[in-house]
Amino acid sequence: MKYKDLIEKMTLEEKASLMSGKDFWTTQNIDRLGIRSMFLADGPHGIRKQAAAADHLGLNASIPATCFPPAATVANSWNVELGETIGDYLGKEAVAQQVDVLLGPGINMKRNPLCGRNFEYFSEDPYLAGKMGASYIRGIQSHGISACVKHFAVNNQEERRMSIDTIVDERTLRELYLTAFEIAVKEGKTKTVMSSYNQLNGSYTNESIHLMKEILRDEWGFDGVVVTDWGGSNDRVAGLLAGNELEMPTTAGETNEEIIQAIRNGIIKEEVLDECVDRLLDLNFTTEAALNKSQEIDFKKHHKVAQRAAEESIVLLKNEGKILPLQKGKTVAVIGDFAKEARYQGAGSSIVNPTILDNILDCFGQSGIVNIGYEPGFERYGKKNIKKLNKACTLAKEADVVLFYMGLDEATEAEGLDREDMEIPENQIDVLNALYKVNPNIVAILSCGSAVEMPWIDKVKGLVHGYLAGQAGARAILSVLSGEVNPSGKLAESYPIQYEDTPSYYHFPGKEVSIEYRESIYIGYRYYDSANKEVRFPFGYGLSYTTFKYSNIQVDKDSVTFELRNTGGVAGMEIAQLYVGCKSEAIFRAKKELKGFTKIFLNAGETKKVTLYFDDKTFRYFNVKTNKWEVEEAEYEISIGASSADIRLTDTLFVQGTGAPIPYDKDQLSTYYSGRANQVGAKEFEHLIGYKLPVSKWDRSQPLGYNDTIAQCQYAKGGIARFAYSVMIFAHWFLRKIGKRSTANIIMMSVYHMPFRGVARMTGGVVNMPMLDGILTIVNGQFFKGLNQVLRERRKMTRVAKEKNPLAKAIKES
Ligand code: BGC
Repeated sequence: MKYKDLIEKMTLEEKASLMSGKDFWTTQNIDRLGIRSMFLADGPHGIRKQAAAADHLGLNASIPATCFPPAATVANSWNVELGETIGDYLGKEAVAQQVDVLLGPGINMKRNPLCGRNFEYFSEDPYLAGKMGASYIRGIQSHGISACVKHFAVNNQEERRMSIDTIVDERTLRELYLTAFEIAVKEGKTKTVMSSYNQLNGSYTNESIHLMKEILRDEWGFDGVVVTDWGGSNDRVAGLLAGNELEMPTTAGETNEEIIQAIRNGIIKEEVLDECVDRLLDLNFTTEAALNKSQEIDFKKHHKVAQRAAEESIVLLKNEGKILPLQKGKTVAVIGDFAKEARYQGAGSSIVNPTILDNILDCFGQSGIVNIGYEPGFERYGKKNIKKLNKACTLAKEADVVLFYMGLDEATEAEGLDREDMEIPENQIDVLNALYKVNPNIVAILSCGSAVEMPWIDKVKGLVHGYLAGQAGARAILSVLSGEVNPSGKLAESYPIQYEDTPSYYHFPGKEVSIEYRESIYIGYRYYDSANKEVRFPFGYGLSYTTFKYSNIQVDKDSVTFELRNTGGVAGMEIAQLYVGCKSEAIFRAKKELKGFTKIFLNAGETKKVTLYFDDKTFRYFNVKTNKWEVEEAEYEISIGASSADIRLTDTLFVQGTGAPIPYDKDQLSTYYSGRANQVGAKEFEHLIGYKLPVSKWDRSQPLGYNDTIAQCQYAKGGIARFAYSVMIFAHWFLRKIGKRSTANIIMMSVYHMPFRGVARMTGGVVNMPMLDGILTIVNGQFFKGLNQVLRERRKMTRVAKEKNPLAKAIKES
């Protein structure tokens, strides 16, 4: 242990006190030993340091900070240097705001397009997400503070996120859901990892010895700190045993006491606690040194970096008849509520209070594009508005080109709840259809953080996907429209034609006890490609104002080399993608997988030689028989593509294997071997996971317990609980009805899906576990007994608090 001497000076109580927060955002200090408290703040795309009222849902304002585009956007840049630059600027601002641990990046896989938090994650591909995540971490930590990669692991839905049990086979876990984290730990060297809320194959991730010890610490060599997601600790002692150093936020000492008792009763050894303290102290002392250096922030410069980030991440999806870039002097009508009120970031814990916010309507000045007017056309949260629609059409008739700003609203893509469908609201499409009739020269600018269906695509000639472009996004989009910037973003996720096409369509989200990842390794393009399913836009797709030619592929055992030429008339950047597919059919696999990528700048007419090196991940697969990464001896197809569906060069390579036995019985897993794994039966899935599927439905006959959710009050024995449930549902319905969707969402985010234990974990000690027992007694039908217990505990708490307060004690004694 690094801090043995200091730890020996600590009492058991002092050591345990470090294991949970002091309040919502800070850790406990021990002044007599010179241990200060650390500040943890969200978030992934800007600092959200709340100086006054604290919450984890983005409700209360934070100190202004640069709002960079979120991960879903920057992923489209496929530029790790850019990721590192953003991390660097985030780190600078964090130091300036005296933040020790920045809670990001979030690198969970986009298993399903409806996950409400997809805007905060990078990709459906673990290699891309891992590389981008690691780059942010390196940038942030170059300032000596800590990043905190999250949410470890398999947290891929918001519905019941604090209790859902994710059932996934070991190979898929390793290859798909953990690889990005592995890269973040090994290459990013993150100092902190945030455990996720959910369960994994029957254990809370924070308590899973397999995940937290065997994989994270032993295999990957992680020696930093694990912090729980806010309110995500279930059994504190089990968490400690799995190596969870810090529980957040505060529990007013209640769970520290559980640790003390477990040590006194011999359930755990004091050394387990000492080791956790040691790692936590290391984090504390190293970040302390970093915060002592002063950091001046030039916010204008940071704004420029946010603009560059957006410019490199915008994806041009359609450009019929070369409608873009707009020629100088072209007149445009700006239509759509999203033009005036840009949708530039997501909602929830990552919400940033921007330092500056560009508005497209103020930006046309020097662009050469002549804006003849603006009309909202539709109401973001409302129904069809004929008056607004007509006004928009009248304006559209006058312009050469219509710029139609459309997208998803803030209440649709938010932390804490998943989307209901993949559609753009109907009132926006009504306007688009009407505009098309009066002026078909339409360029749509899309603002949203995840994939949407596009049955309306024939109505637009140009489609610019800005994703959520951050505080400088408006200007960045304009530079793409005007041609000042040649678009170079490519999609980091697939766009299915319709939601029903997605591989997890039949198994998303888990609504009761569990969610079964029956599609196994076939997520995103791995499925569409292997099942030959047509998509609207494939993974890795994006257009440019120039064209590129790939030639001369050469493959050797370590690398692939090829030539890339800019064959168009303007300079541009191309993202070349390396895909590898195994030709043997002994083990079921995706047709091909991303194993490398690079972004290259080329002047018009310029040619460059490009080499992509293979690494430890190029040929590996996880073998469930040997429980190790292995390489299958086979011929491999090495492809270079401009997207996953646009392969330009291919060669083959024979690779010697590690000689491991074939882990599967092909006859038992025929759907997986066929690649069409969107409807796998229970029996086949059981064969894959190797155990009988746990019951996925709530047992309505049992009394409700700590891990049951408030939503389950609908079948509680206690009438008052059922009544409370009905009130909640009514309030939610009513708020939506009167157009207050954001407020309605808060009910879902903060109450509906919360397990009862969360009531104790998230109230900073106002409700303790014995009081929670009382509440559960009421919920389970014994009103007076439960109420008595709650009141008794409340009195006890007040008495103890008074005794602890020396002034109150002195008054009492005098
Ligand atoms: C989110 C985390 C976030 C934390 C603190 C949680 O609800 O899941 O991503 O860092 O709150 O705001």
